[in-house]
Amino acid sequence: MANNTLLIKHTGTGKQVEYPLLKSTLGAETVEIRNLYKDLGCFTHDPGFVATASCTSKITYIDGDNGILLYRGYPIEQLAEHCEFTEVAYLLMHGELPNERELQDFNLEISDRAIIHESLRKFFDGFHYDAHPMAMLVGVVGSLSAFYHSEMNIKDPAQRLRAATRMIGKMPTIAAASYRHSVGRPFVYPRMDLSYCENFLNMMFSRSSQNYIDQDHYIDQDFVKALNLLFILHADHEQNASTSTVRLAASTGANPYACVAAGIAALWGPAHGGANEAVLNMLAEIGSVENVPKYIAKAKDHEDPFRLMGFGHRVYKNFDPRATIIRKTCHEVLSKTQTNDPLFELALAVEEHALKDEYFIEKKLYPNVDFYSGIIYKALGIPVDMFTVMFAIARTSGWVSHWLEMMDEPTTPISRPRQLYVGPTQRDLAIIKNL
Ligand code: ACO
Repeated sequence: MANNTLLIKHTGTGKQVEYPLLKSTLGAETVEIRNLYKDLGCFTHDPGFVATASCTSKITYIDGDNGILLYRGYPIEQLAEHCEFTEVAYLLMHGELPNERELQDFNLEISDRAIIHESLRKFFDGFHYDAHPMAMLVGVVGSLSAFYHSEMNIKDPAQRLRAATRMIGKMPTIAAASYRHSVGRPFVYPRMDLSYCENFLNMMFSRSSQNYIDQDHYIDQDFVKALNLLFILHADHEQNASTSTVRLAASTGANPYACVAAGIAALWGPAHGGANEAVLNMLAEIGSVENVPKYIAKAKDHEDPFRLMGFGHRVYKNFDPRATIIRKTCHEVLSKTQTNDPLFELALAVEEHALKDEYFIEKKLYPNVDFYSGIIYKALGIPVDMFTVMFAIARTSGWVSHWLEMMDEPTTPISRPRQLYVGPTQRDLAIIKNL
């Protein structure tokens, strides 16, 4: 509801209009300017949507200045410590945490939906062995729309919920299949007796002669715990680039599987979900601790395209709360695996140098969640080109929750931004001028 207003005056015409300031439950007030063009004949120019709220949402709240992240009001620290990923996915989708029975049913439904159609499985055969797993994920998730199109009436809430749960269920299966294809190993079917994270690890790492998880081959529950934590931390992050892409695609009434495939494509970029992979590539490029000062200097040089990957965030201008949680786990996993990977020592040296450097302090560039997540994934044996795929598995819960929220609104206008045109004014073809 509007309490205050914002007065906008066009100094050229002298016309002024008061616009309502909408009150949020937390965070900044937001000016409602949808009539600006009608009233004053102008648009707003905000490349990158730095100051533009594209929707109203009840799902996630971020206070970037104070390093706060809430899912449905619950602090990320509490959820990370006490919940399972599927509980958090339920919370994001439904608005409340599940009771014991609801969680049991939800877990059962997710396990039940983890299997993929045999024809969809064959899609992987069409990819070259060295195809990037994200390329396969985009293609195969988009293809789900071909399998469930007939039962996808987006006006029916029950069908919408089924589609959302189906995507959460199938994503680990498709993700693991992408990896198996790239290393030439046979597809591993999902198992209903395993938890979400255990099942994923089993589908990734089982060998035909030996299950990754069975009575003889014990899986370290600390690995499962670490994966569960990473999935919770990546589950949602309000209107980030990939979620906004899902919303934008969905605003046309597009099929939800296609919308999520669009989100996966947006996630892939190194400025977004591709950052965890980019961090590892950057560390490999830096090579050794002695080179750190040289690369810090390169990152500060505006003439040099090199940036410190895993540092900085559009919203957090303080420490990323997810990075604080994950940093601890990163140490725990590495001591557990007794990994003497020089990359970890290097990562700590980069972190230490950057945190002491005036440039990074002044610009409030802190390590973000992806600075540490890649290191943990590496210690868990996940290959580098699967890192963004891991992010996509977790973020699917956020994407589908935003999609459900959006579809629940009485009207969803098609997202159609305007532009500041700076091209040529109207002109004629030479043939017309010479007539
Ligand atoms: N290394 C060096 N300098 C940086 C970095 C960095 N990682 N990030 C920002 N800066 C500098 C910019 O050069 C700019 O300097 P200037 O003001 O002198 O021109 C200033 O800090 C502000 O940077 P912007 O790019 O304007 O900040 P923005 O909010 O648009 O970008 C972004 C945020 C894209 C995350 C950026 O910090 C970046 O590219 N980081 C590295 C990639 C990365 O880690 N991405 C993951 C994000 S988290 C996620 O998606 C889960």
